[in-house]
Order: sequence, then C-alpha cells, then structure tokens
Amino acid sequence: MIIHDEQNRLFTLRTRNTVYQMKVDCYKVLLHTYYGSYIESGDLSRLIRCADYSFSPNPNEAGMDRTYSLDVMPQEYSTCGVGDFRLPSIELELPNGSRSADLRYLGYDLQKGKYTLPGLPAFYGTEEEAETLVIHMEDAAAGVAVELYFGVFEELDLITRAVKVVNKGNEPVRLCRCASLCLDFLRCDMDFITFNGHHLMERCLERGPLRSGIQSVGSIRGASSHQHNPFVMLCDRNTDEDTGLCYGAMLLYSGNFEAAVECSQYESSRLVMGIHPSHFCWTLAHGEAFTSPEAALVCSSEGFGQMSRQFHRSIIKHLLREPYAHKRKPVLINNWEATYFDFTTDKLVDIAKEAAKMGMELFVMDDGWFGSRNDDNSGLGDWWVNEEKLPGGLEKLVSRINDAGMVFGIWVEPEMVNENSNLYREHPDWVLRIPGRNPARGRGQLVLDFSRKEIRDYIYGQLQAVFSSVPIAYIKWDMNRSLTDVWSAALPAQRQGEVYHRYVLGVYDLLERIRRDYPQILIEGCCGGGGRFDGGMLYYTPQIWCSDDSDAIDRLRIQYGTSFCYPPCTMGAHVSAVPNEQNGRITPLKTRGIVAMSGAFGYEMDLGKCTEEEKDEIRRQVECYKEHYELICRGDYYRLSNPFGEDLFTAWEHVAEDKREALVSAVAGSRRPASPFVRLRLKGLSPSLEYCINGEEEVYSGSTLMHAGYLLPAIKEDYQSIQLYLKAK
Ligand code: DGJ
Repeated sequence: MIIHDEQNRLFTLRTRNTVYQMKVDCYKVLLHTYYGSYIESGDLSRLIRCADYSFSPNPNEAGMDRTYSLDVMPQEYSTCGVGDFRLPSIELELPNGSRSADLRYLGYDLQKGKYTLPGLPAFYGTEEEAETLVIHMEDAAAGVAVELYFGVFEELDLITRAVKVVNKGNEPVRLCRCASLCLDFLRCDMDFITFNGHHLMERCLERGPLRSGIQSVGSIRGASSHQHNPFVMLCDRNTDEDTGLCYGAMLLYSGNFEAAVECSQYESSRLVMGIHPSHFCWTLAHGEAFTSPEAALVCSSEGFGQMSRQFHRSIIKHLLREPYAHKRKPVLINNWEATYFDFTTDKLVDIAKEAAKMGMELFVMDDGWFGSRNDDNSGLGDWWVNEEKLPGGLEKLVSRINDAGMVFGIWVEPEMVNENSNLYREHPDWVLRIPGRNPARGRGQLVLDFSRKEIRDYIYGQLQAVFSSVPIAYIKWDMNRSLTDVWSAALPAQRQGEVYHRYVLGVYDLLERIRRDYPQILIEGCCGGGGRFDGGMLYYTPQIWCSDDSDAIDRLRIQYGTSFCYPPCTMGAHVSAVPNEQNGRITPLKTRGIVAMSGAFGYEMDLGKCTEEEKDEIRRQVECYKEHYELICRGDYYRLSNPFGEDLFTAWEHVAEDKREALVSAVAGSRRPASPFVRLRLKGLSPSLEYCINGEEEVYSGSTLMHAGYLLPAIKEDYQSIQLYLKAK
C-alpha cells in the first residue's frame, strides 16, 4: 500500500512485513527516513538529528543555518557536487563542463498496477497485485527532470525501483552516472554480503563487516559476470538463516554494474546500485530521456531464508514469463559433455533414443552443428547447418529425434563471431573494435556490435531461417567471452560511452523478438555457465545454465549461493558422467540426480555408456522429478545447512505452500572417521501435522521434525545422499 500524507509530506510504502518511508523536507530535498520491519510509522524524520558538522556544507537556501547539510542527511536519491560527498546516484555534465546534480521535489503520481520499462526487463503486476508511485524531481539549474519509480508488491514485501532522467533544456546534457537504487541507513553496524567467484565456481557467498570508506563489487566485462553477481545483501551482524534483519538488493541487468556501499563519517551508510559508472556516459539531447534498469529490494526480519523465499516467489510470479510460467518444463538431455564437437546425426539420435526410454522429453543439440564449427576457433556467425556433419540437415535430424519421442532444442551464440567465418569475411567492420587497435580475442572469438540494429537484424534473419525450418522447443543462448575494445562505428565520439548499455539493450531486443515470434520456445540463458545469471536475463530466459562445473559437490556451493536470490526452477542443472569432466571427482549417480533435480533438471552424458542398473536409477530420477515438479519448482525453498561450513551434510528442502508435502535432500561430504550421527532439523513444516516419510508407516509430527530432527543414516561412502519425501497424513 502506498500512503501519501499531504500535511507532513510523507510517502510511506507498506508491505505485509515492511515499511519504507520518504519525506519531502523544507528545502524540497527528498529524505529517506526508514526502511525495515513493519512499524506503525508516523513521521520518522524525527529520528534524524541535525547538527553543525564542520566541513559539511550547507545549501544556499539554508542561509546561515549550519545545522542542515546534504552531507549527513539520509536521502532517497543522492546528488553530487553540491554538498554531499558520499556516493552519488546521479552525475550530470552540463554544456559548460560542470559536473553536478541537485534534485528537488516537484510532485508525485500514484497508479494502480506496476510500471513497465520499455526495452528493459522489469517485474510485472496487475492492478490487483501491485502499485506504482512516481516522484517527480528536478534540477532546475540543469534543466533536467528526474522521475523516481517505485513498484510495491505488498504481499511479497517486494519494492522495485527505477529512474528516468529527461533533458528539458535546449542544450545537450551528459548523464555520467545514473544509479537504479540508493538506500541510506543511519547506521553502519551491518555486514555486507556479496556473491563472487569465477568461471566454474560462481556465486560463492562472502560476508564481512562494513568498514569506513567504500566497498564495492561490480563488472566492467559487458556481462553481469561470473566474478560478482548483481545481487547483494546488508544485514545485522547477528543475522542468520532464520533470524535477524537483512536487506537483499537485486539489479535486473545483464551488463556492467556496480553495487557499492559506503560507510561514512557519522556512522551512516549508503548502498548505491546500478549501471557501472566506469565507461558510461549518455548524451541527452533536448527532450530525450534515459531510463535506468530496475532494482528490487526485499527486507526480512526473519533472516536470509525468508528474504530468499520472498525473492523466489516474486521472481516466479512476476518476472518469469510464459510459456513456462505455469506448465512443467521438459526434462532434457544435452549432448555437450557426451560428444563436444565430435558428433554425427546417428550419434545424436542414439543419445536421444536412450534418453526417451528413460523418460526424458527434450533433446538439446549443443555447440558444433553449424558453419565450419568443428572446434571453437571457427564458425560462429554462420548460422546454417553443417551438412557434412548432419547430412539431410536439421529436417532429417529433427524428424528422427521427434520419431524417438522427443522434442528438439538447439544451441546458439548470436552475439559472437569467429574470424574464420563467412560472416566475418564479409563484414569485418561489424565487430566491437577500437580504430587503430587490434581487438583482443576471447575463446578465439570476437564480439558483434549488438548496439547496431542492422547487425542484430542480420543475425536474426539467419536464426529465423533455422527456427522456422523445423519444430524447435528450446534454445540455449550462450555467450562465451567478456567484452573488450568497446567502440561502435555507428556512434559519434561523444556517444561512445553509450555502447556497453546499448549492447545490452540490443541483446534484450533480440531476445524479445524471439519470444514474440516463437512464443512456444523455452530459452535457456548461458554465459560459459553462469556468467550472466541475473534478473535481467531471467525476464527473457526463465532458466539459466548455472555453471560449466557440473560436479555435484561443487554444484552444492554454486546452487547454494545462487539460491539467495534466484529460485531453484531457474537454475539449469544436469547430471553428468563420472569422473567429472571439470574436476575428475567421482560421485554416486544418486547424488548427482538429487543435486540436479533441485533445479531445471536435465542430463548431459552419453547414456549409451550407462549400465542397466544406472539406466534404472536414471529412470527413477526422471520419474521422481516429474512427480515432485510442483514442489521443487513452485514450493518454498529452505536451506538447512551451509556447504561452506563444517556440516557433515549439505541439506535443503522444498515445502508445498499448504505445508502438506515436502522434499528434503541431504548430501554428505567425504567420509570422516567416527563421524557423529546427524539429526537434521527440518523447517517450514506445520508443527501440528503428522508426516509420513518415503511412504513408510511411521509418522513424525512437524514439530518433532523441526525441533528434534530426523536421524540421517551413517555415512558409508563419500558423497552419499538421501532424499526424504514427506506427506501429511
Ligand atoms: C559454454 C557452455 O556453458 C557449455 O554448456 C557449452 O554450451 C559450451 N559453451 C559450448 O561451446
């Protein structure tokens, strides 16, 4: 609910469990007065103390009053160059060369339903589900209007934010920074939590106390990156999984970003999140507007678990779109780790036939089917089938796959080109390249300038020919390098600071076109695994390949970190062969199944090499996933232990909304001598319901399972696992 108190000039956003408040002060500065647990609010600006702080300047309108300074006031959208020395949210370069921004309140609009952002991903919501507040600000001297957008999803404790900047003046203005989110706190005693890693080990949780100065994570790689995720948290020092206050902030953006938190002089802190200001500068001619990507906030006073569940519900209900928002996604088999580039039609059909026998439904042909693509040094850009490898083309292959009872999916990497390709030979000027420099290669490939519509159109023309030639149920959209040499031949010198963002808009544009023209196709995002696992991509690709590391034990950590913001149904997860291709580890097939089925489930191995016993196990896994799909993909997710800690088991749980069913999974680490027995305490059950486990007669009350626990078996082999299906009597 959004409440405007005219008299006190207060805006209060109320959700089921939280309150967010802003106040227009006597100088028309928009103060941020509170965000946290639900309270009967009143005017919370009374908690702000004004004092004469040396070296903290006073706005001109304050006259000789030295007790008011922007440098210490908590603000909704921080300015720069006019008295606040902390992290700015916006920076304008005016025609006279000055760099500053000074925003004052003008008015507001309230709307039922959730605002949309043209060309950008955003949470969606009907008039019954969400409300919108737009606060109008202006920098009168610069002739610039700024609109602050707030979306409120009351039931989900979700508050979204975005910013629109409009040049109302006659001269062009340069926007050198435009954050999506600014969040001020009158305290510094918090921890900052970020999700970091590298290719093959993404989104590992790191937690540390705020300290004086600025701490930040971000990406200038052109994609949100394997290294840092555009989701961060702030929390009380003692917050844990189930108790304590925490804030999660997610940016729905797939390009360069920065999430910075500053702990400043008088024990206040500020989180600013948005497009990375490095390499960014957007020219706004008269009347032109710039819209920031969306950011989303959830605050929980019941620990990280509750925050994650609110993000999960929000993403499932208001970010993922059809066709799979409601229907079950097919269980897939992907040929990549089984064959790499070395395959024939017969080989693929053999894999598909085996998979169909085990209940799988979608066959995905990965990299290597097009142009001269026999290794990763050639072919990208030539999106036509390699008939030497696949005689009879896709028609022949797909009809045989369909005959085997499977639908067909295909891999593409539309943003990239190899120099050894017809596309590059014809259009060497289509790649990102700085004049006078030879561009850096990544995986032997260059990057197409997706900021240019004619290049996207050309690629789309090729893809359309493929997608329309045979029935396609799924696309894996890959991206296998970071951006370098970012310069576009289509833009003048003063607009080169726009290329990174225009590139991301170009990616979104092409994805949206595919969604529009092929609405039945499921698109899986991928970036060398999880290098672009973010809320922006999820709007277009409702599942994302979580990591190129498919080892079940490494995946426990990767999927654990990912789950803090993103729901299990979005995490592409496959059972692969052992010894694992990435780290050589041998894990039981059962464990690999349990770990992968806690995501968007599939297999990636040569099923023909499995023993009969293994095939039976796989058949059971596929059945189990289908049977519990709703629970896994729509239920509430509880982390029961931390794979980065000392626990003997890594465990998690999916609980149905009505609490009548739950699926518990627990995976042991390597055997330890004389290890103690583990009584795993479950979560989220109804204390008074009686549950039977795995169909056995004995029943346990929910309260027993949550407080006394369930006795796990002794660990007899490395990486042993157990799955418990609970059903209320
Ligand atoms: C990187 C992806 O993450 C892999 O799954 C696979 O599709 C390869 N690219 C293919 O080149």
